[in-house]
Amino acid sequence: MLLLSLVLAALLSFSMGALPHEDFLQCLSLRSNDSSTISSVIYTRNNPSYSTVLESTIRNLRFNSTNTPKPLVIVTPSRTSHFQATIYCSRKHGLQIRTRSGGHDYEGLSYVAKVPFVVVDLVNFRSVDVDVENRVAWVQAGAILGEVYYRIAEKSRTLSFAGGVFYSIGVGGYISGGGFGLLFRKYGTGGDNVIDAQFIDVNGRILDRKSMGEDLFWAIRGGGGGSFGIVLAWKLKLVPVPATVTVFSVGRTLEQNATQLILRWQEIAHQLPDEMNPDVSMFSVNSTQDGRKTILASFSSLFLGTIDELLPIMQQRFPELGLSRQDCSEMSWIESILYFNQLQNQPLEILLNRTFRNPLGGQYYKIKSDYVKEPISETALNGLFSRLSDEEASSAIIIFMAYGGIMDRIPEEATPFPHRAGNLYKVYYNVNWQEQDNVNSQKYIDWSRRVYNYMTPFVSKSPREAYANYRDLDLGSNNVGITSYTQASVWGRKYFKNNFDRLVQVKTKIDPDNFFKHEQSIPPLH
Ligand code: FDA
Repeated sequence: MLLLSLVLAALLSFSMGALPHEDFLQCLSLRSNDSSTISSVIYTRNNPSYSTVLESTIRNLRFNSTNTPKPLVIVTPSRTSHFQATIYCSRKHGLQIRTRSGGHDYEGLSYVAKVPFVVVDLVNFRSVDVDVENRVAWVQAGAILGEVYYRIAEKSRTLSFAGGVFYSIGVGGYISGGGFGLLFRKYGTGGDNVIDAQFIDVNGRILDRKSMGEDLFWAIRGGGGGSFGIVLAWKLKLVPVPATVTVFSVGRTLEQNATQLILRWQEIAHQLPDEMNPDVSMFSVNSTQDGRKTILASFSSLFLGTIDELLPIMQQRFPELGLSRQDCSEMSWIESILYFNQLQNQPLEILLNRTFRNPLGGQYYKIKSDYVKEPISETALNGLFSRLSDEEASSAIIIFMAYGGIMDRIPEEATPFPHRAGNLYKVYYNVNWQEQDNVNSQKYIDWSRRVYNYMTPFVSKSPREAYANYRDLDLGSNNVGITSYTQASVWGRKYFKNNFDRLVQVKTKIDPDNFFKHEQSIPPLH
Protein backbone atom coordinates (compact mmCIF):
# COMPACT_ATOMS: atom_id res chain seq x y z
CA MET A 1 0.00 0.00 0.00
CA LEU A 2 2.79 2.38 1.01
CA LEU A 3 4.67 1.46 -2.14
CA LEU A 4 1.60 2.16 -4.27
CA SER A 5 1.14 5.60 -2.68
CA LEU A 6 4.78 6.43 -3.31
CA VAL A 7 4.51 5.36 -6.95
CA LEU A 8 1.30 7.38 -7.35
CA ALA A 9 2.87 10.44 -5.75
CA ALA A 10 5.90 10.12 -8.03
CA LEU A 11 3.72 9.71 -11.13
CA LEU A 12 1.57 12.67 -10.14
CA SER A 13 4.50 14.96 -9.54
CA PHE A 14 6.11 13.79 -12.79
CA SER A 15 2.97 14.42 -14.81
CA MET A 16 2.85 17.93 -13.36
CA GLY A 17 6.39 18.43 -14.59
CA ALA A 18 7.74 18.84 -11.06
CA LEU A 19 10.59 16.37 -11.24
CA PRO A 20 12.64 17.56 -14.21
CA HIS A 21 11.91 21.13 -13.37
CA GLU A 22 13.03 20.95 -9.72
CA ASP A 23 16.16 18.98 -10.57
CA PHE A 24 16.86 21.50 -13.27
CA LEU A 25 16.56 24.42 -10.86
CA GLN A 26 18.81 22.75 -8.35
CA CYS A 27 21.33 22.08 -11.09
CA LEU A 28 21.25 25.75 -12.13
CA SER A 29 22.05 27.00 -8.67
CA LEU A 30 24.81 24.40 -8.17
CA ARG A 31 26.29 25.08 -11.56
CA SER A 32 26.24 28.85 -11.39
CA ASN A 33 29.29 30.60 -9.95
CA ASP A 34 27.04 33.02 -8.13
CA SER A 35 23.68 31.45 -7.26
CA SER A 36 22.20 34.77 -6.10
CA THR A 37 22.52 36.37 -9.56
CA ILE A 38 21.15 33.37 -11.41
CA SER A 39 18.15 33.15 -9.10
CA SER A 40 17.18 36.68 -10.10
CA VAL A 41 16.92 35.68 -13.78
CA ILE A 42 14.85 32.51 -13.35
CA TYR A 43 11.08 32.53 -13.70
CA THR A 44 9.14 29.39 -12.81
CA ARG A 45 5.39 29.11 -13.22
CA ASN A 46 5.02 30.03 -9.52
CA ASN A 47 6.77 33.34 -10.04
CA PRO A 48 4.25 36.22 -10.24
CA SER A 49 6.22 37.71 -13.16
CA TYR A 50 6.28 34.46 -15.19
CA SER A 51 3.35 35.36 -17.48
CA THR A 52 4.49 38.95 -17.98
CA VAL A 53 7.97 37.83 -18.96
CA LEU A 54 6.64 35.08 -21.23
CA GLU A 55 4.10 37.30 -22.95
CA SER A 56 6.43 40.31 -23.21
CA THR A 57 7.55 39.29 -26.71
CA ILE A 58 4.90 36.86 -27.92
CA ARG A 59 4.50 38.70 -31.21
CA ASN A 60 1.97 36.39 -32.81
CA LEU A 61 -0.94 36.09 -30.41
CA ARG A 62 -2.05 32.86 -32.14
CA PHE A 63 0.50 31.30 -29.81
CA ASN A 64 -0.71 32.88 -26.60
CA SER A 65 -3.79 30.82 -25.86
CA THR A 66 -4.42 28.73 -22.76
CA ASN A 67 -3.81 25.61 -24.89
CA THR A 68 -0.40 26.77 -26.09
CA PRO A 69 2.35 24.71 -24.40
CA LYS A 70 4.30 26.89 -21.98
CA PRO A 71 7.92 26.62 -20.81
CA LEU A 72 8.63 25.03 -17.42
CA VAL A 73 11.11 27.79 -16.73
CA ILE A 74 12.19 31.04 -18.37
CA VAL A 75 15.80 32.13 -17.92
CA THR A 76 16.82 35.68 -18.84
CA PRO A 77 20.63 35.44 -18.60
CA SER A 78 22.58 38.53 -17.65
CA ARG A 79 26.01 36.85 -17.80
CA THR A 80 27.56 34.30 -20.12
CA SER A 81 27.86 31.88 -17.16
CA HIS A 82 24.03 31.85 -16.98
CA PHE A 83 23.87 30.55 -20.55
CA GLN A 84 26.49 27.94 -19.78
CA ALA A 85 24.61 26.73 -16.68
CA THR A 86 21.28 26.66 -18.53
CA ILE A 87 22.64 24.64 -21.44
CA TYR A 88 24.42 22.19 -19.13
CA CYS A 89 21.40 21.66 -16.86
CA SER A 90 18.88 21.44 -19.73
CA ARG A 91 20.95 18.70 -21.35
CA LYS A 92 21.38 16.88 -18.06
CA HIS A 93 17.66 16.92 -17.27
CA GLY A 94 16.32 16.30 -20.76
CA LEU A 95 14.76 19.72 -21.32
CA GLN A 96 14.76 21.42 -24.68
CA ILE A 97 15.93 25.04 -25.01
CA ARG A 98 14.06 27.62 -27.06
CA THR A 99 16.13 30.76 -27.56
CA ARG A 100 14.26 34.02 -27.88
CA SER A 101 15.65 37.40 -28.92
CA GLY A 102 12.80 39.55 -30.27
CA GLY A 103 10.05 36.89 -30.35
CA HIS A 104 8.95 37.57 -33.96
CA ASP A 105 9.14 33.97 -35.14
CA TYR A 106 6.03 33.65 -37.31
CA GLU A 107 5.31 30.17 -35.93
CA GLY A 108 6.22 31.01 -32.34
CA LEU A 109 9.12 28.54 -32.24
CA SER A 110 11.17 30.71 -29.86
CA TYR A 111 8.65 30.25 -27.05
CA VAL A 112 6.50 27.19 -27.89
CA ALA A 113 7.51 23.50 -27.90
CA LYS A 114 5.65 20.22 -27.71
CA VAL A 115 8.15 18.71 -25.24
CA PRO A 116 9.19 19.96 -21.75
CA PHE A 117 11.28 23.06 -22.41
CA VAL A 118 13.04 26.14 -21.11
CA VAL A 119 12.94 29.56 -22.78
CA VAL A 120 16.26 31.39 -22.80
CA ASP A 121 15.21 34.98 -23.34
CA LEU A 122 17.97 37.44 -24.25
CA VAL A 123 16.14 40.53 -22.97
CA ASN A 124 19.04 41.27 -20.60
CA PHE A 125 21.59 40.78 -23.34
CA ARG A 126 21.07 43.80 -25.51
CA SER A 127 23.93 46.26 -25.32
CA VAL A 128 24.83 48.12 -28.52
CA ASP A 129 28.36 49.42 -28.79
CA VAL A 130 28.93 51.63 -31.84
CA ASP A 131 32.41 52.46 -33.16
CA VAL A 132 31.87 55.17 -35.78
CA GLU A 133 35.53 55.54 -36.63
CA ASN A 134 35.90 51.91 -37.66
CA ARG A 135 32.31 51.66 -38.93
CA VAL A 136 31.45 48.63 -36.80
CA ALA A 137 29.14 47.88 -33.88
CA TRP A 138 29.10 45.01 -31.39
CA VAL A 139 25.46 44.26 -30.72
CA GLN A 140 24.21 41.70 -28.25
CA ALA A 141 21.67 39.35 -29.79
CA GLY A 142 18.76 40.41 -27.56
CA ALA A 143 18.78 43.98 -28.91
CA ILE A 144 15.95 44.94 -31.22
CA LEU A 145 16.69 46.61 -34.57
CA GLY A 146 15.23 49.89 -33.27
CA GLU A 147 17.88 49.97 -30.54
CA VAL A 148 20.59 49.35 -33.13
CA TYR A 149 19.31 52.12 -35.45
CA TYR A 150 18.89 54.55 -32.56
CA ARG A 151 22.35 53.96 -31.06
CA ILE A 152 24.01 54.33 -34.47
CA ALA A 153 22.05 57.54 -35.19
CA GLU A 154 23.09 58.96 -31.81
CA LYS A 155 26.64 58.97 -33.12
CA SER A 156 26.17 59.36 -36.88
CA ARG A 157 23.28 60.21 -39.19
CA THR A 158 25.20 58.95 -42.22
CA LEU A 159 25.86 55.40 -41.08
CA SER A 160 23.46 52.53 -40.59
CA PHE A 161 23.05 48.76 -40.62
CA ALA A 162 21.32 46.64 -43.27
CA GLY A 163 18.49 45.82 -40.89
CA GLY A 164 14.80 45.04 -41.36
CA VAL A 165 11.94 47.45 -41.72
CA PHE A 166 10.14 46.65 -38.47
CA TYR A 167 12.06 48.10 -35.58
CA SER A 168 10.90 45.61 -32.93
CA ILE A 169 12.55 42.56 -34.60
CA GLY A 170 15.36 41.00 -32.55
CA VAL A 171 18.83 40.99 -34.12
CA GLY A 172 19.26 37.41 -32.85
CA GLY A 173 16.58 35.88 -35.07
CA TYR A 174 16.81 38.48 -37.84
CA ILE A 175 20.42 37.74 -38.79
CA SER A 176 20.14 34.02 -38.01
CA GLY A 177 17.52 33.72 -40.78
CA GLY A 178 19.20 36.03 -43.33
CA GLY A 179 17.53 39.38 -42.76
CA PHE A 180 16.48 41.85 -45.41
CA GLY A 181 15.26 45.44 -45.18
CA LEU A 182 15.37 48.89 -46.70
CA LEU A 183 19.04 48.64 -47.67
CA PHE A 184 19.20 45.08 -48.93
CA ARG A 185 19.39 45.94 -52.66
CA LYS A 186 22.31 48.25 -51.89
CA TYR A 187 24.20 46.30 -49.21
CA GLY A 188 22.76 42.78 -49.04
CA THR A 189 21.17 40.89 -46.16
CA GLY A 190 21.83 41.38 -42.46
CA GLY A 191 23.95 38.21 -42.57
CA ASP A 192 26.06 39.64 -45.40
CA ASN A 193 26.96 42.50 -43.06
CA VAL A 194 28.25 40.56 -40.05
CA ILE A 195 32.00 40.39 -39.57
CA ASP A 196 32.31 38.52 -36.29
CA ALA A 197 30.11 36.89 -33.68
CA GLN A 198 30.13 35.62 -30.12
CA PHE A 199 28.47 32.24 -29.88
CA ILE A 200 27.91 29.56 -27.25
CA ASP A 201 27.81 25.92 -28.29
CA VAL A 202 26.18 22.83 -26.82
CA ASN A 203 29.25 22.25 -24.61
CA GLY A 204 29.12 25.76 -23.19
CA ARG A 205 32.18 26.92 -25.13
CA ILE A 206 32.18 30.63 -25.97
CA LEU A 207 33.43 30.99 -29.53
CA ASP A 208 34.25 33.88 -31.84
CA ARG A 209 34.73 33.82 -35.60
CA LYS A 210 38.31 32.62 -35.31
CA SER A 211 37.67 29.86 -32.80
CA MET A 212 34.41 28.66 -34.35
CA GLY A 213 35.89 28.46 -37.87
CA GLU A 214 34.49 29.70 -41.17
CA ASP A 215 31.95 26.89 -41.66
CA LEU A 216 30.03 27.62 -38.47
CA PHE A 217 30.44 31.37 -38.97
CA TRP A 218 28.89 30.89 -42.43
CA ALA A 219 26.00 28.77 -41.07
CA ILE A 220 24.86 31.13 -38.32
CA ARG A 221 24.47 34.05 -40.76
CA GLY A 222 21.30 32.81 -42.44
CA GLY A 223 20.94 29.07 -41.70
CA GLY A 224 17.96 29.74 -39.42
CA GLY A 225 17.84 30.43 -35.68
CA GLY A 226 17.80 27.75 -33.02
CA SER A 227 19.79 25.07 -34.90
CA PHE A 228 23.44 25.40 -33.95
CA GLY A 229 23.70 27.01 -30.51
CA ILE A 230 23.04 30.47 -29.12
CA VAL A 231 24.40 33.63 -30.71
CA LEU A 232 25.34 36.03 -27.92
CA ALA A 233 26.45 39.00 -30.04
CA TRP A 234 27.16 40.07 -33.60
CA LYS A 235 29.85 42.43 -34.85
CA LEU A 236 28.07 44.40 -37.55
CA LYS A 237 29.52 46.27 -40.50
CA LEU A 238 28.04 49.77 -40.63
CA VAL A 239 27.24 51.10 -44.07
CA PRO A 240 27.05 54.67 -45.41
CA VAL A 241 23.69 56.35 -46.00
CA PRO A 242 23.24 59.91 -47.30
CA ALA A 243 22.20 62.68 -44.91
CA THR A 244 18.97 63.07 -46.93
CA VAL A 245 16.89 60.20 -48.22
CA THR A 246 13.52 60.25 -49.99
CA VAL A 247 10.46 58.11 -49.37
CA PHE A 248 7.29 57.77 -51.38
CA SER A 249 4.11 55.80 -51.36
CA VAL A 250 1.61 56.08 -54.20
CA GLY A 251 -1.76 54.30 -54.13
CA ARG A 252 -3.73 53.26 -57.23
CA THR A 253 -6.97 51.27 -57.31
CA LEU A 254 -7.98 48.86 -60.06
CA GLU A 255 -10.08 51.67 -61.48
CA GLN A 256 -6.95 53.82 -61.58
CA ASN A 257 -5.05 51.32 -63.71
CA ALA A 258 -3.37 49.40 -60.85
CA THR A 259 -3.24 46.14 -62.84
CA GLN A 260 -1.26 47.61 -65.74
CA LEU A 261 1.03 49.42 -63.30
CA ILE A 262 1.82 46.19 -61.43
CA LEU A 263 2.48 44.39 -64.72
CA ARG A 264 4.91 47.15 -65.67
CA TRP A 265 6.43 47.21 -62.17
CA GLN A 266 7.25 43.51 -62.50
CA GLU A 267 9.32 44.25 -65.59
CA ILE A 268 11.34 47.16 -64.26
CA ALA A 269 11.47 47.14 -60.44
CA HIS A 270 14.43 44.73 -60.19
CA GLN A 271 16.40 46.95 -62.57
CA LEU A 272 15.86 50.20 -60.66
CA PRO A 273 18.96 51.65 -58.96
CA ASP A 274 20.42 49.76 -55.98
CA GLU A 275 19.61 52.88 -53.94
CA MET A 276 15.91 51.94 -54.02
CA ASN A 277 13.88 49.11 -52.46
CA PRO A 278 10.69 49.19 -54.55
CA ASP A 279 7.70 47.24 -53.40
CA VAL A 280 4.02 47.09 -54.12
CA SER A 281 1.48 46.21 -51.43
CA MET A 282 -1.98 45.00 -52.44
CA PHE A 283 -5.09 44.81 -50.30
CA SER A 284 -8.82 45.14 -50.63
CA VAL A 285 -10.57 48.44 -49.85
CA ASN A 286 -13.97 49.98 -50.42
CA SER A 287 -13.91 52.03 -53.56
CA THR A 288 -14.44 55.73 -52.84
CA GLN A 289 -16.49 56.05 -56.02
CA ASP A 290 -19.37 53.66 -55.38
CA GLY A 291 -18.53 51.97 -52.08
CA ARG A 292 -17.87 48.61 -53.79
CA LYS A 293 -14.77 46.58 -52.99
CA THR A 294 -11.68 47.13 -55.10
CA ILE A 295 -7.96 46.45 -54.78
CA LEU A 296 -5.56 49.19 -53.77
CA ALA A 297 -1.96 48.80 -54.91
CA SER A 298 0.47 50.95 -52.99
CA PHE A 299 3.81 51.52 -54.75
CA SER A 300 6.49 52.61 -52.35
CA SER A 301 10.23 52.87 -51.93
CA LEU A 302 13.05 54.41 -50.03
CA PHE A 303 15.59 56.20 -52.19
CA LEU A 304 19.09 56.93 -50.93
CA GLY A 305 19.18 60.47 -52.31
CA THR A 306 17.09 63.59 -52.80
CA ILE A 307 13.76 64.15 -54.53
CA ASP A 308 15.57 65.99 -57.30
CA GLU A 309 17.70 62.94 -57.95
CA LEU A 310 14.79 60.49 -57.75
CA LEU A 311 12.22 62.17 -60.00
CA PRO A 312 14.17 61.98 -63.30
CA ILE A 313 14.94 58.29 -62.63
CA MET A 314 11.27 57.48 -62.10
CA GLN A 315 10.25 59.66 -65.04
CA GLN A 316 12.59 57.75 -67.29
CA ARG A 317 12.06 54.20 -65.97
CA PHE A 318 8.48 54.16 -64.71
CA PRO A 319 6.65 57.19 -66.16
CA GLU A 320 3.32 55.29 -66.02
CA LEU A 321 3.26 55.68 -62.22
CA GLY A 322 3.26 59.47 -62.57
CA LEU A 323 5.32 60.00 -59.42
CA SER A 324 5.26 63.67 -58.50
CA ARG A 325 7.17 65.85 -56.06
CA GLN A 326 4.08 65.95 -53.80
CA ASP A 327 4.20 62.15 -53.43
CA CYS A 328 7.75 62.31 -52.03
CA SER A 329 9.20 63.38 -48.69
CA GLU A 330 12.80 64.02 -47.75
CA MET A 331 14.11 63.04 -44.34
CA SER A 332 17.09 61.47 -42.58
CA TRP A 333 17.60 57.73 -42.84
CA ILE A 334 16.57 57.13 -39.23
CA GLU A 335 13.38 59.12 -39.84
CA SER A 336 12.61 56.83 -42.76
CA ILE A 337 12.51 53.95 -40.26
CA LEU A 338 9.77 55.82 -38.38
CA TYR A 339 8.01 56.49 -41.70
CA PHE A 340 7.94 52.83 -42.76
CA ASN A 341 6.73 51.85 -39.27
CA GLN A 342 3.93 54.40 -39.58
CA LEU A 343 5.41 56.36 -36.68
CA GLN A 344 5.99 59.66 -38.48
CA ASN A 345 6.37 62.64 -36.16
CA GLN A 346 7.08 60.43 -33.16
CA PRO A 347 10.29 61.02 -31.19
CA LEU A 348 13.16 58.75 -32.20
CA GLU A 349 13.13 57.30 -28.68
CA ILE A 350 10.10 55.25 -29.69
CA LEU A 351 12.57 52.95 -31.43
CA LEU A 352 13.83 51.89 -28.00
CA ASN A 353 10.35 50.86 -26.95
CA ARG A 354 9.99 47.09 -27.06
CA THR A 355 6.21 47.26 -26.94
CA PHE A 356 4.95 45.82 -30.18
CA ARG A 357 2.49 47.30 -32.60
CA ASN A 358 2.03 45.61 -35.94
CA PRO A 359 1.74 48.27 -38.64
CA LEU A 360 0.19 45.64 -40.93
CA GLY A 361 -2.91 45.04 -38.81
CA GLY A 362 -4.07 42.35 -36.38
CA GLN A 363 -1.70 40.56 -34.04
CA TYR A 364 -2.93 37.10 -35.00
CA TYR A 365 -1.46 36.07 -38.32
CA LYS A 366 -0.25 33.50 -40.82
CA ILE A 367 2.55 34.31 -43.24
CA LYS A 368 3.84 32.65 -46.40
CA SER A 369 6.41 33.60 -49.03
CA ASP A 370 7.33 32.90 -52.64
CA TYR A 371 9.93 33.95 -55.18
CA VAL A 372 9.02 35.03 -58.71
CA LYS A 373 11.46 34.59 -61.59
CA GLU A 374 9.21 35.34 -64.60
CA PRO A 375 6.63 38.13 -64.72
CA ILE A 376 3.17 36.79 -63.97
CA SER A 377 0.34 37.36 -66.47
CA GLU A 378 -2.60 39.71 -66.21
CA THR A 379 -4.94 36.72 -65.85
CA ALA A 380 -2.85 35.35 -62.97
CA LEU A 381 -2.86 38.75 -61.29
CA ASN A 382 -6.63 39.02 -61.65
CA GLY A 383 -6.99 35.63 -59.94
CA LEU A 384 -4.89 36.94 -57.05
CA PHE A 385 -7.05 40.04 -56.77
CA SER A 386 -10.18 37.93 -56.77
CA ARG A 387 -8.83 35.96 -53.77
CA LEU A 388 -7.85 39.21 -52.04
CA SER A 389 -11.50 40.18 -52.32
CA ASP A 390 -12.64 37.09 -50.35
CA GLU A 391 -14.30 37.80 -47.05
CA GLU A 392 -11.44 36.11 -45.09
CA ALA A 393 -8.99 38.48 -46.76
CA SER A 394 -10.49 41.69 -45.44
CA SER A 395 -7.24 42.36 -43.51
CA ALA A 396 -4.90 40.41 -45.77
CA ILE A 397 -2.01 42.09 -47.52
CA ILE A 398 0.18 40.75 -50.30
CA ILE A 399 3.46 42.51 -50.99
CA PHE A 400 5.78 42.11 -53.97
CA MET A 401 9.30 43.13 -52.92
CA ALA A 402 11.73 43.79 -55.77
CA TYR A 403 15.04 41.91 -55.88
CA GLY A 404 17.99 42.79 -58.10
CA GLY A 405 20.66 45.27 -57.07
CA ILE A 406 23.54 43.74 -55.15
CA MET A 407 21.44 40.61 -54.58
CA ASP A 408 22.20 39.71 -58.21
CA ARG A 409 25.93 40.01 -57.57
CA ILE A 410 26.38 38.08 -54.31
CA PRO A 411 26.86 34.35 -54.99
CA GLU A 412 24.15 31.98 -53.71
CA GLU A 413 26.62 30.18 -51.49
CA ALA A 414 28.13 33.30 -49.85
CA THR A 415 25.84 32.76 -46.86
CA PRO A 416 23.08 30.16 -46.34
CA PHE A 417 20.53 32.69 -47.70
CA PRO A 418 20.39 31.48 -51.34
CA HIS A 419 17.80 33.75 -53.01
CA ARG A 420 20.10 35.89 -55.11
CA ALA A 421 20.39 36.35 -58.92
CA GLY A 422 17.42 35.50 -61.09
CA ASN A 423 14.66 36.66 -58.79
CA LEU A 424 12.40 39.46 -59.94
CA TYR A 425 10.73 39.77 -56.56
CA LYS A 426 9.63 38.04 -53.42
CA VAL A 427 5.97 37.63 -52.53
CA TYR A 428 4.91 38.10 -48.91
CA TYR A 429 1.43 36.82 -48.06
CA ASN A 430 0.04 38.08 -44.76
CA VAL A 431 -3.42 37.23 -43.49
CA ASN A 432 -4.18 38.64 -40.07
CA TRP A 433 -7.15 38.94 -37.80
CA GLN A 434 -8.29 40.41 -34.50
CA GLU A 435 -8.73 38.75 -31.11
CA GLN A 436 -12.51 38.47 -31.36
CA ASP A 437 -12.10 36.48 -34.59
CA ASN A 438 -9.50 34.09 -33.28
CA VAL A 439 -12.15 31.37 -32.84
CA ASN A 440 -12.27 31.41 -36.66
CA SER A 441 -8.49 31.33 -37.13
CA GLN A 442 -8.69 28.18 -39.28
CA LYS A 443 -10.70 29.96 -41.92
CA TYR A 444 -7.95 32.57 -42.32
CA ILE A 445 -5.21 29.95 -42.36
CA ASP A 446 -7.16 27.97 -44.98
CA TRP A 447 -7.42 31.11 -47.06
CA SER A 448 -3.65 31.60 -47.03
CA ARG A 449 -3.18 27.96 -48.11
CA ARG A 450 -5.66 28.39 -50.94
CA VAL A 451 -3.88 31.49 -52.22
CA TYR A 452 -0.53 29.71 -51.96
CA ASN A 453 -1.88 26.77 -53.97
CA TYR A 454 -3.32 29.13 -56.52
CA MET A 455 0.09 30.76 -57.02
CA THR A 456 1.91 27.46 -57.69
CA PRO A 457 2.20 27.80 -61.50
CA PHE A 458 3.46 31.40 -61.33
CA VAL A 459 6.33 31.16 -58.83
CA SER A 460 9.72 29.44 -58.46
CA LYS A 461 9.80 25.66 -58.89
CA SER A 462 12.02 22.72 -57.93
CA PRO A 463 12.38 23.88 -55.29
CA ARG A 464 9.54 26.30 -54.67
CA GLU A 465 11.69 28.75 -52.73
CA ALA A 466 10.68 30.38 -49.46
CA TYR A 467 12.37 32.79 -47.07
CA ALA A 468 13.60 31.10 -43.87
CA ASN A 469 12.77 34.11 -41.70
CA TYR A 470 9.14 33.91 -42.86
CA ARG A 471 8.81 30.65 -41.03
CA ASP A 472 5.97 28.51 -42.37
CA LEU A 473 5.37 25.09 -40.84
CA ASP A 474 3.09 24.17 -43.77
CA LEU A 475 6.33 23.58 -45.69
CA GLY A 476 7.16 20.64 -43.44
CA SER A 477 8.67 19.94 -40.05
CA ASN A 478 10.89 17.60 -38.09
CA ASN A 479 9.31 14.88 -35.98
CA VAL A 480 9.21 15.59 -32.26
CA GLY A 481 11.58 12.67 -31.62
CA ILE A 482 14.04 11.70 -34.31
CA THR A 483 14.91 14.06 -37.14
CA SER A 484 15.45 12.80 -40.65
CA TYR A 485 17.59 14.32 -43.36
CA THR A 486 15.08 13.30 -46.04
CA GLN A 487 12.15 14.82 -44.22
CA ALA A 488 14.06 18.02 -43.40
CA SER A 489 15.26 18.33 -47.01
CA VAL A 490 11.68 19.07 -48.08
CA TRP A 491 11.50 22.41 -46.30
CA GLY A 492 15.30 22.80 -46.04
CA ARG A 493 15.77 23.02 -49.81
CA LYS A 494 12.97 25.58 -50.10
CA TYR A 495 14.69 27.82 -47.56
CA PHE A 496 18.34 27.12 -48.39
CA LYS A 497 18.45 25.36 -51.79
CA ASN A 498 21.81 23.56 -52.17
CA ASN A 499 23.20 25.28 -49.08
CA PHE A 500 21.07 22.88 -47.03
CA ASP A 501 23.71 20.12 -47.35
CA ARG A 502 26.48 22.33 -46.02
CA LEU A 503 24.23 23.36 -43.13
CA VAL A 504 23.67 19.68 -42.30
CA GLN A 505 27.44 19.11 -42.31
CA VAL A 506 28.01 22.04 -39.95
CA LYS A 507 25.22 20.83 -37.66
CA THR A 508 26.66 17.30 -37.58
CA LYS A 509 29.98 18.71 -36.43
CA ILE A 510 28.84 21.30 -33.87
CA ASP A 511 25.82 19.54 -32.34
CA PRO A 512 25.92 15.84 -33.36
CA ASP A 513 23.40 14.78 -30.69
CA ASN A 514 20.92 17.39 -31.92
CA PHE A 515 20.42 19.18 -28.64
CA PHE A 516 19.44 22.49 -30.28
CA LYS A 517 16.36 21.50 -32.19
CA HIS A 518 12.87 22.58 -33.12
CA GLU A 519 10.29 21.84 -35.79
CA GLN A 520 12.42 23.33 -38.55
CA SER A 521 15.96 23.07 -37.18
CA ILE A 522 18.77 21.67 -39.32
CA PRO A 523 19.19 17.94 -38.54
CA PRO A 524 22.58 16.24 -38.06
CA LEU A 525 23.46 13.17 -40.10
CA HIS A 526 23.15 10.11 -37.87
P1 FDA B 1 12.64 35.14 -32.25
O1 FDA B 1 13.22 35.52 -30.94
O2 FDA B 1 11.26 34.61 -32.27
O3 FDA B 1 13.62 34.12 -32.96
C1 FDA B 1 13.38 33.57 -34.24
C2 FDA B 1 14.15 32.26 -34.39
O4 FDA B 1 15.54 32.48 -34.17
C3 FDA B 1 13.74 31.19 -33.38
O5 FDA B 1 13.94 29.92 -33.95
C4 FDA B 1 14.72 31.41 -32.26
O6 FDA B 1 14.90 30.27 -31.43
C5 FDA B 1 15.98 31.77 -33.01
N1 FDA B 1 16.85 32.66 -32.26
C6 FDA B 1 16.49 33.85 -31.68
N2 FDA B 1 17.56 34.39 -31.09
C7 FDA B 1 18.59 33.56 -31.28
C8 FDA B 1 19.95 33.59 -30.87
N3 FDA B 1 20.42 34.61 -30.15
N4 FDA B 1 20.75 32.56 -31.21
C9 FDA B 1 20.27 31.52 -31.93
N5 FDA B 1 18.98 31.42 -32.34
C10 FDA B 1 18.14 32.45 -32.02
N6 FDA B 1 12.22 39.73 -41.59
C11 FDA B 1 13.02 40.42 -42.43
O7 FDA B 1 14.03 39.90 -42.87
N7 FDA B 1 12.70 41.69 -42.77
C12 FDA B 1 11.61 42.32 -42.28
O8 FDA B 1 11.38 43.49 -42.58
C13 FDA B 1 10.75 41.60 -41.40
N8 FDA B 1 9.62 42.16 -40.88
C14 FDA B 1 8.89 41.49 -39.93
C15 FDA B 1 7.81 42.13 -39.32
C16 FDA B 1 7.07 41.48 -38.33
C17 FDA B 1 5.91 42.19 -37.69
C18 FDA B 1 7.42 40.17 -37.96
C19 FDA B 1 6.62 39.44 -36.90
C20 FDA B 1 8.50 39.53 -38.56
C21 FDA B 1 9.25 40.18 -39.55
N9 FDA B 1 10.33 39.57 -40.17
C22 FDA B 1 11.10 40.29 -41.05
C23 FDA B 1 10.71 38.20 -39.84
C24 FDA B 1 11.79 38.20 -38.77
O9 FDA B 1 13.02 38.61 -39.33
C25 FDA B 1 11.98 36.79 -38.22
O10 FDA B 1 10.80 36.37 -37.63
C26 FDA B 1 13.14 36.75 -37.23
O11 FDA B 1 13.52 35.42 -37.04
C27 FDA B 1 12.74 37.39 -35.94
O12 FDA B 1 13.81 37.48 -35.05
P2 FDA B 1 13.47 37.65 -33.49
O13 FDA B 1 14.75 37.61 -32.77
O14 FDA B 1 12.58 38.82 -33.32
O15 FDA B 1 12.59 36.36 -33.25
